[in-house]
Amino acid sequence: MKGDEADHFTAALAAAARRVEQRLDALLAIHPQRGEIARPERLLAAMRHGVLNGGKRFRPFLVLESAALFGAEPAAAMDVAAALECIHCYSLVHDDLPAMDDDDLRRGRPTVHRAYDEATAILAGDALLTLAFDIVAAVELPAERRVALVSMLARAAGLGGMAGGQMLDLAAERDAPDEAGIIRLQAMKTGALIRFACEAGPVIAGASGEHRERLAAFGEAIGLAFQLADDLLDLTASAETMGKATGKDAAAGKATLAALHGPDWTRRQLAGLVAQARELLAPYGDGAALLSAAARFVADRRS
Ligand code: IPE
Ligand code: IPE
Ligand code: MG
Ligand code: MG
Ligand code: MG
Repeated sequence: MKGDEADHFTAALAAAARRVEQRLDALLAIHPQRGEIARPERLLAAMRHGVLNGGKRFRPFLVLESAALFGAEPAAAMDVAAALECIHCYSLVHDDLPAMDDDDLRRGRPTVHRAYDEATAILAGDALLTLAFDIVAAVELPAERRVALVSMLARAAGLGGMAGGQMLDLAAERDAPDEAGIIRLQAMKTGALIRFACEAGPVIAGASGEHRERLAAFGEAIGLAFQLADDLLDLTASAETMGKATGKDAAAGKATLAALHGPDWTRRQLAGLVAQARELLAPYGDGAALLSAAARFVADRRS
C-alpha cells in the first residue's frame, strides 16, 4: 500500500475498532436485558474474553464504511457491525476448540477453552451467536430492512455459509479437495461473513439492489483474498506477530491454495483479487477511498 493510503487506513481502522469495542462492552454488560432472567458471571466473563481481546475489527470496519458510503444512520450501522463481530468471535472460540483446530493462543492470549474450560467455551460461542441476532433484531431501522439483515446474517453464518464452510474445512484435512473445492470452502468459512459485512451497508441505508450486488461482489473478492492471506501467513509468519499459532495448516495436512501453489503464486493471486475488488468501487470515486484501502490491507497485512 502507498504510504499515505496505508497511514490513513490504519488510523481509520484503529478509530473504528475503539468505537466498536465500546459498543461491544456495553452489549456485554452484566445487567440482564428485558426478557432475560440473569447473566451468569462466568459465562459472561468467557464471552468477554472471546470478544474484548484486541481483534483487528476488520469486519465491523467494512460494515461501517459500506454503510457510510450510502449515507446510512451511523448508530444502526454500529449495531450491525457489533453483531457481526459477535458472530466472528464465536466462530473463533469454536474454531479453537480441541475438537476443531485445538489452539491455545488467540489474539495473543489463551483461547477461551484454555482460560476457562471447554464446556464454557462452547456455551460462550452459543450465547455470542444468539446475542448477534438479538442485536440485529433490535436495530433502529424500518422492519423490512431489519428482517433482510437477520436473514442475510443467518445465511452468511450458518449451514450454507460459515458453519458449512467450517465443516468442509475439517473434511479437507482427511480428503483433499481440488482447487475449486478449496475456493468454495473458503468462500463459505471466511468469505460469507466478509461478504455480509460489505453488502450490509447498502441494505442498512436502503440503497438499490444494484449497489447491493456491487458491494456483495466486492466482499466476495476481498473475502477470498482474506483467507488466502491467512493461509499465506500461516505458512510464513510467526506466532508472535500473528498472536496465534502458525504452521498449523501444513501440520494438519490441510489443503490450502497457499500450500498448493506456494507464496509467490499466492501473492500474485492476492494482487489480482485486490485489483478486481478496487475496480468494483470505481463508480463511487473518492467516497470509497477507505474501502478501497481496506482491499489493499487484506493482501498486505502482516497479522
Ligand atoms: C481470523 O480472522 C480468522 C479467519 C477467518 C482467517 P481475523 O484475522 O480477522 O482475526 P481477528 O478478528 O483480527 O483476531
Ligand atoms: C477459520 O479459519 C475461519 C473461521 C470461520 C473461524 P482458520 O482456522 O484458518 O482461522 P485461524 O487461522 O485459526 O484464525
Ligand atoms: Mg479452522
Ligand atoms: Mg483455526
Ligand atoms: Mg488460519
